[in-house]
Amino acid sequence: MMVKQLIPAAVMLASAASAWSPTDSYAPGIVECPDYLDDKDADNRVGFLRQADGISDEEHEWMQARDNVTFDNLKLFLSSVNLTDLDTDDFLDKVRKNSSARAPRIGLSFSGGGYRAMLCAAGEIAGLDNRTVGASSHGLPLLGATSYVSGLSGGSWFLSSLVFNNWTSVQDIIDQNGQDNAIWDLEHKMLDPYGINIVKDAKYWDHIKDAVDAKRDAGFNVSMTDPWGRGLSHQFFPGLDDFGESMTFTSLRDWEVFTNHSMPFPIIVSDGRTPGRKIINSNSTVFEFNPYELGSWDPYVDSFADLKYVGTPMDGGKPSGNGSCWAGLDNTGFVFGTSSTLFNQFLLQLNTTSLSGLAYSAAKSFLTDLDNDNNDIAPWTPNPFYNSPYGSSKSIKSADTLYLVDGGEDQQNIPLYPLLSDDREVDVIFAYDNSADTNQNWPSGSSLVYTYERQFSNASANFSFPYVPGVDTFLHNNLTARPTFFGCYASNLTSLMKEVNTTYVPPLVVYTANRPWTFESNTSTFKLKYDDDDKLSMIQNGFAVSTYNNLTIDEDFPKCVACAILQRSKERMGVEMGAECKKCFSDYCWDGSTYTYDNDSLPNDFTKTGRFNNTIDEPNSSEILKMSGSDAPASATADVIVSSTDDSGKIAASTLSASSVSSSSVSSIASSSHSNGAAAAFNVGTSSNWVSMVTLVMSWLALV
Ligand SMILES: *[C@@H]1O[C@H](CO)[C@@H](O)[C@H](O)[C@H]1NC(C)=O
Ligand SMILES: *[C@@H]1O[C@H](CO)[C@@H](O)[C@H](O)[C@H]1NC(C)=O
Ligand SMILES: *[C@@H]1O[C@H](CO)[C@@H](O)[C@H](O)[C@H]1NC(C)=O
Ligand SMILES: *[C@@H]1O[C@H](CO)[C@@H](O)[C@H](O)[C@H]1NC(C)=O
Ligand SMILES: *[C@@H]1O[C@H](CO)[C@@H](O)[C@H](O)[C@H]1NC(C)=O
Ligand SMILES: *[C@@H]1O[C@H](CO)[C@@H](O)[C@H](O)[C@H]1NC(C)=O
Ligand SMILES: *[C@@H]1O[C@H](CO)[C@@H](O)[C@H](O)[C@H]1NC(C)=O
Ligand SMILES: *[C@@H]1O[C@H](CO)[C@@H](O)[C@H](O)[C@H]1NC(C)=O
Ligand SMILES: *[C@@H]1O[C@H](CO)[C@@H](O)[C@H](O)[C@H]1NC(C)=O
Ligand SMILES: *[C@@H]1O[C@H](CO)[C@@H](O)[C@H](O)[C@H]1NC(C)=O
Ligand SMILES: *[C@@H]1O[C@H](CO)[C@@H](O)[C@H](O)[C@H]1NC(C)=O
Ligand SMILES: *[C@@H]1O[C@H](CO)[C@@H](O)[C@H](O)[C@H]1NC(C)=O
Repeated sequence: MMVKQLIPAAVMLASAASAWSPTDSYAPGIVECPDYLDDKDADNRVGFLRQADGISDEEHEWMQARDNVTFDNLKLFLSSVNLTDLDTDDFLDKVRKNSSARAPRIGLSFSGGGYRAMLCAAGEIAGLDNRTVGASSHGLPLLGATSYVSGLSGGSWFLSSLVFNNWTSVQDIIDQNGQDNAIWDLEHKMLDPYGINIVKDAKYWDHIKDAVDAKRDAGFNVSMTDPWGRGLSHQFFPGLDDFGESMTFTSLRDWEVFTNHSMPFPIIVSDGRTPGRKIINSNSTVFEFNPYELGSWDPYVDSFADLKYVGTPMDGGKPSGNGSCWAGLDNTGFVFGTSSTLFNQFLLQLNTTSLSGLAYSAAKSFLTDLDNDNNDIAPWTPNPFYNSPYGSSKSIKSADTLYLVDGGEDQQNIPLYPLLSDDREVDVIFAYDNSADTNQNWPSGSSLVYTYERQFSNASANFSFPYVPGVDTFLHNNLTARPTFFGCYASNLTSLMKEVNTTYVPPLVVYTANRPWTFESNTSTFKLKYDDDDKLSMIQNGFAVSTYNNLTIDEDFPKCVACAILQRSKERMGVEMGAECKKCFSDYCWDGSTYTYDNDSLPNDFTKTGRFNNTIDEPNSSEILKMSGSDAPASATADVIVSSTDDSGKIAASTLSASSVSSSSVSSIASSSHSNGAAAAFNVGTSSNWVSMVTLVMSWLALV
């Protein structure tokens, strides 16, 4: 267990009361510094920073109160599933009365994958939400019993849309579809939300430009992530006069739905990456945004900053310069924009919209000014971890800017990591995978594989994650076709825990992958608009995904979910498993068997290590980031893959092999395959003109 740090109660009061009164602006502003800066007695804290040796006191207090709410709702859920082996009310009361026991905590985790992931996740959570019509009769209404919910990229869009619309329900969003100011109007692209109403489109771009200019004028770095976050905010917060321009992530602290603990604790994930560097799962730094903090559990950073005051120039955690404190950099749209930077480049497709004339030129020159080689990076300047006494990463501590990128760039596309913290005490994670790993845009389980592997790397804190098989087993054994449980028995995890050097039993993971129960929900990650019918069908299919087709496949599924939720508590309390849960576990737990393709049956999009070879299929993040030129190898050769999406979201791809690479062949591929949004991916192998090709294609993208 981690040692809990002690912050005097006064600190929390001070931070709750201190005033950043949101102006009507997107720009951060100067505010009064919080009193706790002067606190000399605080352990493991300097100024705005604290060591990542546990959750914050604020989160701890909040979660204690949330436990009271989830406890009652969990009782309700469990009694509705009629477990016969265990009196669940009695069991939970026993847990509650036992001071050395702890209540079961449930976490939900939603993957990235653009609007596809957003809509699938919406349906998936609707299946868990008793506010959804039908959820009580053919769903799993356990949202009220949930402690944490995490999202990244497209998963952060869905999560922020619910949270910052006063924890609205997906049912409400569906009911209001088609009305004025409806949330998630995706009939038009974000680039021209009013379609051919060019006057309104022009006003929209003016509005965005004014916001971004105001931030720049206040002295802050701006990037493509700013208009990206603003554009998304127009789709997510249409009911607010300013479309969320002045709404900060930390403002949630003051919202009644949060202060009365009627919603779970939201967490958004982003990765750290300096320009020109590549990250993979074994050397990424996973950052999280939560209503209190921005930071990372990883040894590289090992600290958290008070998110409200991020934007204050800091040196070693203390305000530097003239000592002023700033607030407002944590604009909600900028936060989920940061979690989804992979998509920023799509702003460069203005040419494919209805915009024309002056409106077009104005938007274009605005975006061209922001355009640079590192469009998939969100610069957070000033860097809150500048000269931090914590963490081992010199490159982060010495930089003026904290560089954050799409949370899926390290291939851990489900934001599981924050839920593995022992201090969060999560017993079961429902992991919803809406990734496009296969050529047909279905998940392959690879995200779990990457998270599993990462626990053994130096980049990871001592958080353990249950055994999972390779993706060949996921696919061949149908583990993506039905809900599958991992880490069912703590007794089987002891040697794993030893290897990771922890005594904390990792959560049981209930993995559920996107499947076409009622709709072909494998739309392209780069599909930028959905008509209402498709949108609603995606959401409805998501409901079927999280409920195992509306509970029609197995009537015992809710019982089995209950077994998964209670498993760790039962293990801790020494309660024997009954026949019911044993049967469930034999039906749903991965049995440890693995499958490996032999050479003859290896599908052509599959590598021998059991990973999908998706370099052709989609320009995934690791390919795109190679566009950043500064750290490019002096001499390399490359395969260039240029792909584009058409209106229906289909990807057309063309490939050039290393031998035929030349500037003109790249540009001819680029223009021929481009119809409605192009992306370029580079598979670096062996070409001397790699750097110039990158420059060429980037400038080509900027031209269209
Ligand atoms: C939780 O509920 C109990 C019993 O109703 C109450 O005594 C306690 O103060 C509550 N805890 C919090 C943190 O609200
Ligand atoms: C549980 O039992 C109640 C009362 O006997 C019944 O109404 C309900 O349908 C049962 N629920 C399930 C999921 O079997
Ligand atoms: C209380 O909880 C502890 C640890 O979870 C467990 O070992 C113990 O048996 C429990 N006591 C009772 C009376 O259930
Ligand atoms: C599954 O339940 C949802 C929510 O109640 C409903 O919209 C959908 O039509 C159901 N699907 C089927 C196939 O009945
Ligand atoms: C629905 O869930 C909420 C908690 O999210 C709970 O307060 C409420 O009582 C539940 N309603 C029903 C009808 O079960
Ligand atoms: C937020 O939702 C709650 C109920 O969930 C409601 O009481 C409150 O008035 C809402 N607040 C706003 C600002 O709409
Ligand atoms: C991460 O690992 C990859 C592959 O080994 C390497 O190319 C890259 O430079 C590493 N990045 C960092 C930041 O260490
Ligand atoms: C996977 O599902 C397919 C189609 O339903 C079935 O034919 C196959 O036997 C299943 N494989 C395993 C290992 O269960
Ligand atoms: C394992 O963790 C313990 C306590 O957290 C620490 O004292 C010890 O040095 C660690 N061992 C290794 C091999 O890292
Ligand atoms: C895990 O442990 C259980 C009982 O403790 C055993 O029945 C099962 O075979 C084990 N599963 C795996 C995958 O090792
Ligand atoms: C990936 O696919 C491409 C094109 O089919 C092939 O040339 C390349 O060798 C594959 N890479 C791996 C690692 O299998
Ligand atoms: C897109 O831009 C190019 C170059 O600026 C121009 O030649 C072309 O006509 C534009 N296409 C459309 C559809 O506006």
